[in-house]
Amino acid sequence: PEPRAFAADLLAWYDRHARVLPWRVAPADRAAGVRPDPYRVWLSEIMLQQTTVAAVKSYFEAFTLRWPRLVDLAAATRDEVMSAWAGLGYYSRARNLKACAETVAQAHGGVFPASEAGLRALPGIGPYTAAAIAAIAFDEVATVVDGNVERVVSRLYRILTPLPLAKAEIRVLAERLTPAARPGDYAQAMMDLGATICTPKRPACSLCPVNTVCAAAAVGDPDGFPVKAPK
Ligand code: ADE
Repeated sequence: PEPRAFAADLLAWYDRHARVLPWRVAPADRAAGVRPDPYRVWLSEIMLQQTTVAAVKSYFEAFTLRWPRLVDLAAATRDEVMSAWAGLGYYSRARNLKACAETVAQAHGGVFPASEAGLRALPGIGPYTAAAIAAIAFDEVATVVDGNVERVVSRLYRILTPLPLAKAEIRVLAERLTPAARPGDYAQAMMDLGATICTPKRPACSLCPVNTVCAAAAVGDPDGFPVKAPK
């Protein structure tokens, strides 16, 4: 795929078909220039680290109703946060959530750092989450690579190297495809493409906005990618 055309086609599809999710800015507001709230982006990305979108939705809504702003969460007790998190699993995330809220409230005047490096210095924020927050909340040109993105890229380029060996190669290609404009929408468009069209089994290639530039689709074998190492 040629990066500019690829990003343009993907973003045009996202503008029509983006999943409506509680942590996203509504399409009409987005068109009017409304930016996502970094607090809500951060909270959603922590919850989504090891948990599905379907499971996260109601927790995200409960948290943001109860603690609408970062300072509200920073002022909550640890027990309150832990019991509100109950059921989501991976409880170190909840401990880090509280610690991160306190750090940002106290050491950063309640304002999240906008750079990937600044974000990575915070509790509970690793490379993936830092890139996601930087792109989505701050429009930094950061590339978000998760399992969905690896699958999409391995199909686009028909990468024959098996995973996990292909990870570095996939990242380079994913970075090359990331546009300078709207990197946050682009990141979420890749996630939506992987979740709804370019699925692990029986992908819906006939509905795919980048079908014509996909090497795996061209040879009729999207299911063959990513190639997995023999066990
Ligand atoms: N998974 C991780 N981050 C996500 C996001 N912002 N939207 C949808 N799925 C996600």
